[in-house]
Amino acid sequence: MASSLPRQAFRLASSSTTTIRAAASRRCASTLQNTGKRTTQWSFPKNSNSGKRAYSSLPPGGSPPPRETNKIAFWPFVAVFVLASGGYMLLVDRRKDMPPNPKSTSSAAAVEGPSTPAFSPTDVTVIFVLGGPGAGKGTQCARLVRDYGFTHLSAGDLLRAEQDRPGSQYGQLIQDCIKNGAIVPMEVTVALLENAMRDTLTAARTRKGRFLIDGFPRKMDQAVKFEEVVCPAKMVLFYDCPEEEMERRLLERGKTSGRADDNAESIRKRFRTFVETSMPVVDYFEKQGKVVKVDSTPGPDKVYEATRGQLRRVFGDKF
Ligand code: C5P
Ligand code: MG
Repeated sequence: MASSLPRQAFRLASSSTTTIRAAASRRCASTLQNTGKRTTQWSFPKNSNSGKRAYSSLPPGGSPPPRETNKIAFWPFVAVFVLASGGYMLLVDRRKDMPPNPKSTSSAAAVEGPSTPAFSPTDVTVIFVLGGPGAGKGTQCARLVRDYGFTHLSAGDLLRAEQDRPGSQYGQLIQDCIKNGAIVPMEVTVALLENAMRDTLTAARTRKGRFLIDGFPRKMDQAVKFEEVVCPAKMVLFYDCPEEEMERRLLERGKTSGRADDNAESIRKRFRTFVETSMPVVDYFEKQGKVVKVDSTPGPDKVYEATRGQLRRVFGDKF
């Protein structure tokens, strides 16, 4: 699906380390199979990503052929194993101080099952910023960027940029979803966010970063997928605002925003999606004790004061 989202979306190549690991073991497995003499099963250490994999030359349900140990020298296999393991360890060691590889992505997870996230939560701080449409998420994020050096990634902005990108195969789909206040399939949004995070870190030549992920996750599948393959969130900043106030703001913004969804009909649909689909995400994180709620009914200054107070409370003064 995503292979033709140039740069912006799925970089479907496998994680380099897992690729190296898998390739090394495939090579080793085929070396062993080619002898036709031995039946050898390779499995990876439990703490490796490929821990569940096993390569075997045994046919399913088959029994091993008779061993002819007296005709085979065992040491070449030991030598191959030692060399491959040594090479792999060297590569891992060299890579650990490098910025994230653009080709290292969650997509490895799709190929190889459950994976570790692309970014370590010890290096990367992710704060999800949620709230209904018009709750003031973007306004508060801009101030947090100014004062705390966060990188602000708005899922809606990334989707609009992808929609407008010439040649995007998702342009029409995104446009339809946005107009109807519906949720864009999570693969697209998760990939856009992951790529934007990676681009930010690569440009800064660092592994460490702080991201405000605005307007995301809006649906449970987005939440689960993102935390599984991109990065677990440290906290959810939830801006709580009554619908009438949000509607008033959106209609006001609609006079100049040029957005296809800042009109009465789309706003109604967006509110419904928010209540039915996005609020369960807030509840999910609330059960994990990750939600910090801020009343965003007052003006931006007051809301920001409350936001800073909450961040200090959670992260401390040096935040
Ligand atoms: O956050 P914003 O109001 O800019 O989002 C605009 C629209 O983009 C949403 O109504 C929805 O159609 C889409 N969107 C989405 N998934 C997200 C964020 C936005 O599908 N996580
Ligand atoms: Mg916004």
